[in-house]
Amino acid sequence: MSAVLEMPATGPRHFLDIKDFSSAELRDLITEAARLKRSRGAGKKPLAGKTLAMIFEKPSTRTRISFEVAMRELGGDVIVLSSRDMQLGRGETVYDTAHVLSRYVHGIMLRTDSAAKLHDLATHASIPVINGLTELTHPCQVMADVLTFEEHCGPIAGQIVAWVGDGNNVAASWIEAAAKFGFTLRLACPDGYKPNAKILAWAKREGADVSVTTDPIAAVQDAKCVVTDAWLSMADAEEESMARALALAPYQVTPALMAQAAKGAIFMHCLPAHRGEEMTADVIDGPASVVFDEAENRLHAQKAILAWCLG
Ligand code: CP
Ligand code: NVA
Repeated sequence: MSAVLEMPATGPRHFLDIKDFSSAELRDLITEAARLKRSRGAGKKPLAGKTLAMIFEKPSTRTRISFEVAMRELGGDVIVLSSRDMQLGRGETVYDTAHVLSRYVHGIMLRTDSAAKLHDLATHASIPVINGLTELTHPCQVMADVLTFEEHCGPIAGQIVAWVGDGNNVAASWIEAAAKFGFTLRLACPDGYKPNAKILAWAKREGADVSVTTDPIAAVQDAKCVVTDAWLSMADAEEESMARALALAPYQVTPALMAQAAKGAIFMHCLPAHRGEEMTADVIDGPASVVFDEAENRLHAQKAILAWCLG
């Protein structure tokens, strides 16, 4: 990896959010992810002897498996924990948990619906902490998505990406990425489901080309990529599902909406997906869809992140 990715002046190398990194550092991670993808199986073991503890307070298929395979392929080991199985789940403090884990393992990945808990853990751990999704952001996903976009459409800087649907945690990391990677992001979200106002304000201050509309057709004009996500995220209350379905139905990604985007536009979704809800089956299962490339690229993007954090 190039010299741009420097060790922080003090403390461990956390990977909490895209906005915490410089554009050059993020570019280095994408370059390294692409290199690791090309050389998969070449046998380098930079994380030999290192163990990552993964704590899941919410379910996961991709994050869990891709981090585990990434650690193993880099020569390291993992311990997968649910907070229900830990004293953390019965009230042991994050402070004590952070100190104890720091004596055993070399890094912690946390999936939680409390970004405050993630930051608390990072404050008190003396080892790197990685954000495996919070209610606010999902940075590892969007690093994989930037890699995927570039594989299909070339350098992302200056291109147009459209987010259509709920302005959720994944949308927030896309907003941070737009600021750092220099692409245009147009979000079409219904009233009541707009992206996080603080993250939008941050992006505006950074000079990012990010706009929010209620009109999906306007958002996708000339877009090289249309992205959506589930109507109901893990941190959302189940009781909201009817109201969300009503508000978000007009934002379903259909072939007609894809036809309004740039010629050859790709369709992205972090998965898990709900055919017939946020998009029709013919979009996600059609030729524009790159969703399984995104899922694969979690592995490669996270290898680059792990090598930087723990290497
Ligand atoms: N996209 C993603 O993070 O998937 P999982 O919830 O399966 O980890
Ligand atoms: N927005 C979704 C992403 C799942 C990977 C959620 O938080 O449930």
